[in-house]
Amino acid sequence: MINFEALFKISYGLYIVSSGDKNKGNGFISNTVSQVTSEPAKFAACCNKNNYTSEVIQKYGAFAVSVLNIDASPGIFGTFGYRSGRDFDKMAGMNIKYGNTGVPIVLDECISFIECKVVQTVDVGTHLMFIGELVNAEILDETKEPLTYLYYRKVRKGVVPKNAPTYIDKSKLELPLKDLLFNKYQCPACGYIYDEANETVKFKDLPEDWICPVCGSDKSDFILV
Ligand SMILES: Cc1cc2nc3c(=O)[nH]c(=O)nc-3n(C[C@H](O)[C@H](O)[C@H](O)COP(=O)(O)O)c2cc1C
Repeated sequence: MINFEALFKISYGLYIVSSGDKNKGNGFISNTVSQVTSEPAKFAACCNKNNYTSEVIQKYGAFAVSVLNIDASPGIFGTFGYRSGRDFDKMAGMNIKYGNTGVPIVLDECISFIECKVVQTVDVGTHLMFIGELVNAEILDETKEPLTYLYYRKVRKGVVPKNAPTYIDKSKLELPLKDLLFNKYQCPACGYIYDEANETVKFKDLPEDWICPVCGSDKSDFILV
């Protein structure tokens, strides 16, 4: 038997993984970055093959990882976690620094960053795991804590889209029958759907100050589909 709830006990951080150059940069929200060796220091970043950033990292052979702070705004999740760089320029208006490899590094709402040169790409099915050797690392803000995946999900009631490796199809969880009655709620402003079947929290149990992760509309604006 697989109890999917056990998977939620694995700890992660939250990051913006970026790549590209001065003309075209892109990035996505990731909770699956980790250090895999110490000498030389190497890091793995797992990126869905459908993410535009997958193409960009393959083209430029390098990526940066910016560590989000605990107060990172819902807007940054909407931009980097729910929209694709295929449709718009995510870097426009952002505070960006260009690293040693030339990749853009997002500085807004982050406390530190690392920059890596890709040394290996592993095809793990739905995702590509980019393994990169560390070439640069800096602290941006000593005063704030990093945002963890647990805090994002439990305290901020954050959700993840299907492209995230840790996404769990709720219909696979073992639950009493009553919990299998799921509703869908739609944001009238941007069309985002909160589908209870895919979330760990019922819509009515989200805090009243919860807002649409894509456009920031109020919870009270959502319409039962
Ligand atoms: C909290 C959170 C964690 C995520 N983690 C990952 C991840 O580890 N890997 C991944 O491929 N996508 C992850 N995603 C989904 C991507 O951020 C999302 O699909 C993004 O829109 C891709 O943008 P792009 O097409 O511009 O690359 C996550 C999203 C959120 C909100």
